[in-house]
Amino acid sequence: MSNIESYEKRLKDFDWSIAEKELDYNKGDSINIGWYCSDRICKQGKADKKALIWEGLGGIEKTYTFNDVRLRSNTIASFLKNLGIKTEDRVCLFMDKIPELYMGFLGILKLGAIAQPLFSAFGDESLHVRLDNAQTTAIITQRKHVSKVRKILDQMPYLKHIIIVDYEGKNPLREREVAFNMDDAIQVENFEISQTKAESPSVLHYTSGTTGQPKGVKHVHYSLISQYLTTKWVLDLQDDDIYWCTADPGWVTGTSYGIIGPWSLGITQCVLDTGFSAESWYKFIQKRKITVWYSAPTAIRSLMKAGENIIKEHDLSSLRHLASVGEPLNAEAVIWSEKVFGKAFLDTYWQTETGSMMLTNYPGMKIKPGSMGKPFPGITASILDTKTFEPINEIGKPGLIGFKPGWPAMMRTYWRNEETYQKKFENGWYLPGDRAYIDNEGYYWFIGRDDDVINTGGHLVSPFEVESALLEHEAVAESAVVAKPDDVNMEVVKAFVTLKPGNEASDELELKIMNFIRKKLSPLAMPQEIEYMDTLPKTRSGKIMRRLLHAKEWGEEIGDISTLEDD
Ligand code: WTA
Repeated sequence: MSNIESYEKRLKDFDWSIAEKELDYNKGDSINIGWYCSDRICKQGKADKKALIWEGLGGIEKTYTFNDVRLRSNTIASFLKNLGIKTEDRVCLFMDKIPELYMGFLGILKLGAIAQPLFSAFGDESLHVRLDNAQTTAIITQRKHVSKVRKILDQMPYLKHIIIVDYEGKNPLREREVAFNMDDAIQVENFEISQTKAESPSVLHYTSGTTGQPKGVKHVHYSLISQYLTTKWVLDLQDDDIYWCTADPGWVTGTSYGIIGPWSLGITQCVLDTGFSAESWYKFIQKRKITVWYSAPTAIRSLMKAGENIIKEHDLSSLRHLASVGEPLNAEAVIWSEKVFGKAFLDTYWQTETGSMMLTNYPGMKIKPGSMGKPFPGITASILDTKTFEPINEIGKPGLIGFKPGWPAMMRTYWRNEETYQKKFENGWYLPGDRAYIDNEGYYWFIGRDDDVINTGGHLVSPFEVESALLEHEAVAESAVVAKPDDVNMEVVKAFVTLKPGNEASDELELKIMNFIRKKLSPLAMPQEIEYMDTLPKTRSGKIMRRLLHAKEWGEEIGDISTLEDD
């Protein structure tokens, strides 16, 4: 049976209490995402249903039932508790997409601690900035990543425990390190789950801004309400679905819709922990008989590039519903997916801060390729004037996207940065920092970001972070980092630098600078290109004008520079 009611009907009857009722949650009750995603599903008679089908390199496979998820998350929670980890302590998950990451996430929540997932490809400096901001108490990681933690250990007196999930006993454990083997541990049947409340903190996700360090987006257990309902209605997950969310839980899609949404509905999900290739992805869909697939535009454009012949070599007939998030999904990609898979990818728009989907191509609604769709029921959205922050009621006129605060999964603050959090609101609206317009049928169309943040392949990169890394190199005098157009990733990172006297611009130096910053940045933030300049364009007050460099890359009119100079 489909979950789909018409969008109009849902809008008319909507109240978030629909989700509260389905989850048997009454205001004031305790609500713990860890319990909802495992114990409750077992209580509903699905203890033996497959929860996770995991595949790693070389085709190794592991399968866990909902009872396994319940036991493993209990066991991790209990292990952490015995280490002395307390309610609201931050526990970082720093792993590839291995089963321990998924169970660890729920275990941390069951204990009432705060899960801080970080992308495992981060280098030691990216890791350090985020652990430092969160004053993280423990980190759960793998052997292959532990050297990055060791490198910065001296600077982190607050980090008391480093938990290694695949310790083999070959090399001795070092200071603060402890081994934990999830599958071999004696499973804890009963763990006293923390009676967290709606407003108890749950997850801390780090996201990049234009200036300053990455911001820790604080979510609470009540986010479940929107994550559950959007998963049910937009991803349309049903009991017999086999679901695949391609996102890494280091990012919000990988937790909201790669753990919480599907498991709170008791859905079987698959995880492929290998790099991207069209061949391996199609093989995975065929082998696992994936029915619902939630992915991202860059992956879709890469699949387009790989061509249609490879599609014909696979049986992808299990697919019944496809959705996308993270960056603009161009019309061509929507049309192409309809042609080759018989289903169009439905675009959804949201962000780390919103915690759950905001604008969606609701199933059953007419698809307008290239549009982000309409506000999810319960979300009040508008396009606002950039100066007055009043709604623009003119069709097709660009402005800032604004959302009325109050949906359950909305972030509660930026960790230790309430000031920046407050700046996200104007005139009673939450501003996600994107520009769009609404057409005559109420569909939203993305225009661009309202800041200098670069969205490369769905990953937000702070130009400031890349510029800072470049400036640390001895030959670099000044730097400016902007987005450059790219066929597949939409945008890639491009750096402009001026050199200190005595340095010659050369390919060799570019390579040296690249190698230097590689150690500081995540691979996703690495510039594709460094261009040498004699001077960088600046305002009279000396601020570098990224906008001019950006316009140059995109072949746009630069406009009146005299006003910019007074910036
Ligand atoms: C962009 C990812 C166009 C946007 C869940 C947003 C999009 C930022 C779309 C959030 C979309 C996300 N169309 N742009 N459908 N979805 N974005 O925090 O700029 O990693 O503010 O969350 O990605 O990225 P974040």
